[in-house]
Amino acid sequence: MAKTIQAVRGMNDILPEQSAAWQYLEAVLRDVIHAHGYREIRLPLVERTGLFKRSIGEVTDIVEKEMYTFEDRNGDSLTLRPEGTAGCVRACMEHGLLYNQVQRLWYAGPMFRHERPQQGRYRQFHQIGVEAYGMEGPDIDAEIILMTAQMWQALGLERVELQINSLGTTASRAAYRGALVEYFRDCSVDLDTDSRRRLESNPLRILDSKNPDMQHVIGNAPRLPDFLDADSQAHFAGLLALLDAAGVACTLNPRLVRGLDYYSNTVFEWVTDRLGAQGTICAGGRYDGLVEYLGGRAIPAVGFALGLERLIALLKATGRPLPDGNPHVYLVLGGEQGIRRGMVFAAQLRARLAGLRLQTNCGDGSFKSQFKRADRSGAGIALVIGDDEARQGLVTVKRLRAGAEQETLPEAAVARRLADLLALETPAGD
Ligand code: HAM
Repeated sequence: MAKTIQAVRGMNDILPEQSAAWQYLEAVLRDVIHAHGYREIRLPLVERTGLFKRSIGEVTDIVEKEMYTFEDRNGDSLTLRPEGTAGCVRACMEHGLLYNQVQRLWYAGPMFRHERPQQGRYRQFHQIGVEAYGMEGPDIDAEIILMTAQMWQALGLERVELQINSLGTTASRAAYRGALVEYFRDCSVDLDTDSRRRLESNPLRILDSKNPDMQHVIGNAPRLPDFLDADSQAHFAGLLALLDAAGVACTLNPRLVRGLDYYSNTVFEWVTDRLGAQGTICAGGRYDGLVEYLGGRAIPAVGFALGLERLIALLKATGRPLPDGNPHVYLVLGGEQGIRRGMVFAAQLRARLAGLRLQTNCGDGSFKSQFKRADRSGAGIALVIGDDEARQGLVTVKRLRAGAEQETLPEAAVARRLADLLALETPAGD
């Protein structure tokens, strides 16, 4: 027999028993974002390869080794988006959204990177990203960081730490880069192959190296904060003061440089110690130079993206029960009249009780086998309508888990009873 075809490594199915937790997470995040006045932008999964090369940087892990790049039938080089910022900037420029106006935007969806798959690191993963354009002061940096703090609070997540740094302006970073190259050149015997290659092309990324043998050299390297110009220092100090006033604690991490080239000034990451090596759940920063670099006017920009797979893992690690999406109620039907009445009654109940998840038995079956299905569905309550009930306008309500109590009620009383049992909102008209 032929081997069955399996999913591509690092690309996961989100199965029905997981999807309710995803929907919950996405709804909470979306509510927090909307509460801050951000609007959604929906972007293509595929962009021209050049967009990512120019935005993310030629000498970054993403562009050098992780992009899913292919030629389409016209011979154009296209790439599955490895992140959302580049496409967002492209769309805003293309549609004139940055012209004499500010924008507060968000997007969600899958991103693709050909990384080595492991716990918390996948080849298709999902981000929700937020981007703000046209505002240069530290207040908008603070706004988006406070928004992320609000998200953790809304999700009940603890033990997440905000790490923050400033990369300074392009000019101050150039000065720092010069000093780094000089320093690393002097100790080039201690550098590994990757770092030696990066020495000329992207020396800041050497600081990111996880190689334990390199940590001593990196530890003694010149420090970025010593090279910040006055404007960058003022911006950073302004941001820290706003965070402090809002009661959001942060750790200054002068080694935080991020893996994408478009950043300037503020960069930040939210990290947790509960997810092992892939502990960064959210990351972002300012990228004031990118719009101009891609051919537009100079427009200040700042944003972040969070990794939904990692947030789901963190939610699970808290041990709090997550929504399972199971039906609340299973409707058991018997006899021709029972089935006819049941179908109509089910529709009436769904219309009256917002949020009710009611599954109707289909495919007949004895009461015994229907109760088995009810049990397997995960529902906590069964409603029973047989021919007798249908004739008399009654419904039997049976608790499936808590002591299996049962009561028979007039149809008109069922919506209210369910609302009480399920803690749903009182039905309209009652
Ligand atoms: P990033 O740091 O590359 O930034 O990704 C943001 C988040 O996406 C990470 O912190 C992590 O939670 C998640 N993530 C990244 N790669 C993977 C992976 N292979 N598997 C699972 N999760 C992953 C960006 O993408 C920037 N566009 C963020 C940004 C927006 N900066 C400014 N605006």
